[in-house]
Parts: sequence; structure tokens; C-alpha cells
Amino acid sequence: MTTGGRGIDPRYMQELKQKNNIVEVIGGYVPLERKGGNYWACCPFHHEKTASFAVNEAEQFYHCFGCGVSGDVVTFVREIESTDFMGAVRILAARAKMPLPESNFDTERAAELRKKRDSLIKILLDSARFYLSNLYGGDAGAHLEYISRRKLAPTTVKKFGLGASLDFYSLPEYLAGKGYTREDLVDSGVLAESKNGKLIDSQGGRLIFPIINAFDEVVGFGGRLLEKSDFAKYKNTKETMVFNKSKTLYNINLLKKLKREQPISDVIVVEGYMDTISLYQAGFKNVVASMGTSLTKDQARLVKRYSENVYISYDGDFAGQKADLRGLEILKDENLSVRVVPLPDGLDPDDVAKQGADAYQKCLDAAMPLIDYKLHSLEKKYDLSRSEDKRSFVAEALKIVRSAESESEKEDLLKKLRDRTGFTYQSLERDLQNLPAEGKQTEISLPVLPEAAAGTDKYKKAARFVLAAKLFSAPYAEKCDISGIGFDDNVHKIIAEYISACERNGERVRPSELFEILGEDSPEFNEILDLNYGDKLSGSVAERFFGESLQTLEEEGLQAEIDECKKRFEAETDTGRRKEIARRLDECMRRLKKRGAR
Ligand code: UTP
Ligand code: MN
Repeated sequence: MTTGGRGIDPRYMQELKQKNNIVEVIGGYVPLERKGGNYWACCPFHHEKTASFAVNEAEQFYHCFGCGVSGDVVTFVREIESTDFMGAVRILAARAKMPLPESNFDTERAAELRKKRDSLIKILLDSARFYLSNLYGGDAGAHLEYISRRKLAPTTVKKFGLGASLDFYSLPEYLAGKGYTREDLVDSGVLAESKNGKLIDSQGGRLIFPIINAFDEVVGFGGRLLEKSDFAKYKNTKETMVFNKSKTLYNINLLKKLKREQPISDVIVVEGYMDTISLYQAGFKNVVASMGTSLTKDQARLVKRYSENVYISYDGDFAGQKADLRGLEILKDENLSVRVVPLPDGLDPDDVAKQGADAYQKCLDAAMPLIDYKLHSLEKKYDLSRSEDKRSFVAEALKIVRSAESESEKEDLLKKLRDRTGFTYQSLERDLQNLPAEGKQTEISLPVLPEAAAGTDKYKKAARFVLAAKLFSAPYAEKCDISGIGFDDNVHKIIAEYISACERNGERVRPSELFEILGEDSPEFNEILDLNYGDKLSGSVAERFFGESLQTLEEEGLQAEIDECKKRFEAETDTGRRKEIARRLDECMRRLKKRGAR
């Protein structure tokens, strides 16, 4: 399954495997012992005391008789390094001193983008070092005081590479002498243009939390104000070629290191930088942060590379916030096993960890499945010693119980309700059956959001399909020019730009080159590559879907332009220009209508 896919020449894969003997590669990670025809080790993917992990040299294959994992040398490296297929190829290629697949045929455009990426990464690293040296440079008294007020030990501060921005101008001065272009400095997000055109530190004055990806590259910063003010408490690097907050997890770099040292049985997902650092300091090293947003699918997939079991540890009382619960459904959709950690109201993991590791461990031990957690937080809204409260609670609780996935789960929840309320099991069960059916429907169909989400989903799917068809040269896509399509997603934009550049220069599109540009860790890119497995891109159904997708993208583009026109129209005072905008608006609306009529 690892060879052949994703546009790499099978002959290349063959050579790669020949030059990377599985026994030597695995032997570099775990001590192997020869017994009979096989080599044996304690399995690096699950806990065990006796060796049940076998490596077969003749077949170039491994299999664990304990946990059932198996594969070839590429799968092994993918798993042990928590990377993806291309990531494993890169590691093995470096090991065998082979060039990367097709890298000697690089297009100019790809090389250019790679250069750009390298430059941004360098600027970010340089800035991280600068911030770091500020922290102990003698002028960061306020920052150090803040750190000690938050009870962070020096080793912790070092581990996370915390730094200090002292003002708005010293970073631009420092970077000015290093030969970076103004454009790259701004595109890295590190510097911003002030109103009078001067470059300033985007994090001016803040305490700096470097955000580091799984490959130990600094990709962005979170910066905290030291004092309360009207400005946002945290400021994150803007979205750039290398940083997309919703696709990254804070502390993924140390999680990856941890996984190399020991199997990770579960990952704790928190919201904030400080939550992460405090838990880590208290000994809970298996922690990452979603950085304030409700979890995204990309983040869920990233977590899944490290463990199937996830503890969600958000601020106490978060269940009331719908956005977060939606995030949790996403984890379930990715087949992760999810438990929610109840925290005392008003406290976040950082607050609890500060009371000691035991205090937080107690919360972890009390973690419960999502549906139980919903009941648990619902209950807190009522005073069950009052009978009218008790009745309203049961009415609401039964709606939650109804959403349970299985009859046995329902039964279990009803028993818990019985114990909490004192009603009999039979009466609760009857009430559950008698819940008005439409109650469920209005609950699900009324909110506007799911519909909007479905819309963007449709748009995203369309964009992915169109890009995949172009990337893998589907014959029906050949004549289609995508350079006029405005893509929303940053990764989509880069891919489209790459494809258009190749076409302009009359060069072949090579998907593997995009790894150089996007990094190995782009879930969105992998999503697109996955479309190349099986027959998804060929045949008449695919061809039809391609046409429909183009239409979806065009409609979306028109809609975006309409929204934009409306905004500009509102803001415009000049009558001539207003007319101009109105004409354009009219035209877009007409075109959109015509599409809808088809
Ligand atoms: P919180 O408001 O819960 O902050 O935001 P916190 O982590 O407890 O921070 P401290 O303890 O006051 O220092 C959680 C996360 O949301 C993001 C940050 O990633 C933060 O860690 N956030 C929050 C922002 O990006 N911007 C903000 O203005 C606030
Ligand atoms: Mn906090």
C-alpha cells in the first residue's frame, strides 16, 4: 500500500527499499535479537515485557504478535516517526543518501517557493532566538516577573523556548542587518507595516511563546500581554505560508519527541499556551493545545498520529459553548476515543495544575464520555432538591439520552439518571419513549450553522477534487484553466499557483514537489493526495463530478464577489463609483442566477 501511490515512480520506491534493509533500519530504533529465522524486539508501538515484535529479513516485513501492527520499512518509519508517507520517504532517502524522488527535475517555480519557505523559516528562527536572548538580556524584568508570577520553572521556560519582545523597533533593527527582503519579513508575520510605512515587531512588548511544528521548525508565535488592557490578551502570528493556526497544535514538537521515548496511551488536548506549559511542568507531558479555537478536523487528524485516545481538557463549564461541543464531534468522526475532563467551574487546567499534579490527576480520573459530560454539565444548572428543577432537568436530560448511539448506552445513562433523581427506571424509560418526535427535529434543523457548514464542506470538497484532478493529470481536467479561480484555503492557493506556473512554463506537474513547499505535515494536502487512491479520479462519474465541482467553485466565487461588492457599495461615497459597483453587482447576480437555473 505504501508504494505506487502519490505519484512516485515505483522504481524509485524499489530502490529506496533495497537500500534500506528493514533489519538495519528497525535496529536503529530498537535492539533486535536474532532467533530462528526472524529478528525479535519488544514492540515499540505498545507496552510489553517480552519480545513479540518480529522482523523478517527475507520478506522485508515486520509484524507484532502482541498488538497486530505490521508493514514494510516505509510503514515502520512512518509510524515510529509519526510522519506521513512522504515524510518517511524523505527520512529513508536521506539515510540511503538518495536524492528525493524527482527532485533533480525541479521546476523553477517549485524551487522559488521552496526558497521563499526557507527564508520565512529562517526569519522565524532568527526572531525566536532574538526574543530568547532578550529574556535574559537584563532588560526583561517585567517579563521575568510575569513568568515567576505564573510559577514557571527556568527549565520549563527553556524547554518551551519562551522569549521576550521588549518594544516595537528592536527586532526590525536586528533583522535589518541580515539580508532578508522586506517582503519576506512581512510575509513571515514577524514584522508588520505600521501606518507610516515603517516595519514594527508584530508582538511588540509581549511575552513570546514560539509555536513549533513536528519537524522542529518555528512556524509562528503567540504573544501575551503582561498586563490587562483593551488589546487582545494573546496575539498570534497571522496566517502565513508556514503557519495556519487551525492546522497546528501547540507543543506537537515535544509530543513527537515523547512518542519516540515511550508509547503514548492518550493525548490531553487543552485550549491555551499556559495550560499546556503548566501541565507539562506538572508531569503531564502528553499535552497539546488547540490555541483557543474549537478543534478542527485537521487538528483531530494530527492528534490521531500520536494516539487514538484523547482527553479534552477545556476550561470548566465549557459545555455551554456550542462551538466546543462541535469540535468534539469532529474527534469522534475521526474515530478517536474521546473523554472529557471535568474541571471545577471557572478554573482552567493551568489553575488546577498549579494546585499540584494530584489535583489534576483527580480530574483526569474523573473523565467521562462526551454524552455523560453533557448530562453532568446540564445537571449543574439545576437544584435537584427542588422538584420543579428536577422535572425540568429530566426533560432536558432525556433529549440528550435519546441521542445515545446504542441501546446499551441509553440503558446505562437511564440508570445514572435514576440514581441522580430518584425516579424509577421504568418511568424514565417510558418518558424517553414518549418524547415528542418533533422535539428532536426542531432541535436539529433550526440552527443556521450546520447548513452553512455543509455549504463550505461542499465548496472544500469541490476545490480538493479539482486540484487533485489537475495534479494527477486526469484527462478530463487537462484543458481546464484554473488560474482564474479564487481559492479560499491557503494550501489550495499554493497548489493552484504551482499548477498554473507549471502550465505556463510548459512543465509537468509533479505532486511530490509540493511536499517541499507545503511541508510533510499538511493535512489538507494529504486530503487531496488521498483522492488519488483507488479509482476516485477516473471514469465518467469522476468526470461529471469534476464539472460540478468547477461550477460550485464558480458559484462560490460569484457569491464572494457579490458580498464584496455589497460591502464596497455601502462604503463608497462617490456616485460614479457607486454606479460602477452596482453594475458589477448586477452582473454577478445575474450570472449566479443563471447558474442556479441550470
Ligand atoms: P484563554 O482566554 O483561556 O487564556 O485562551 P489562557 O490560556 O487561560 O491564558 P492565561 O492563563 O490568561 O495566560 C485560551 C487560548 O486562546 C487563545 C490562546 O491560544 C490562548 O492560550 N487566545 C486567547 C487568543 O489567541 N487570543 C486571545 O485574545 C485570547
Ligand atoms: Mn489561564
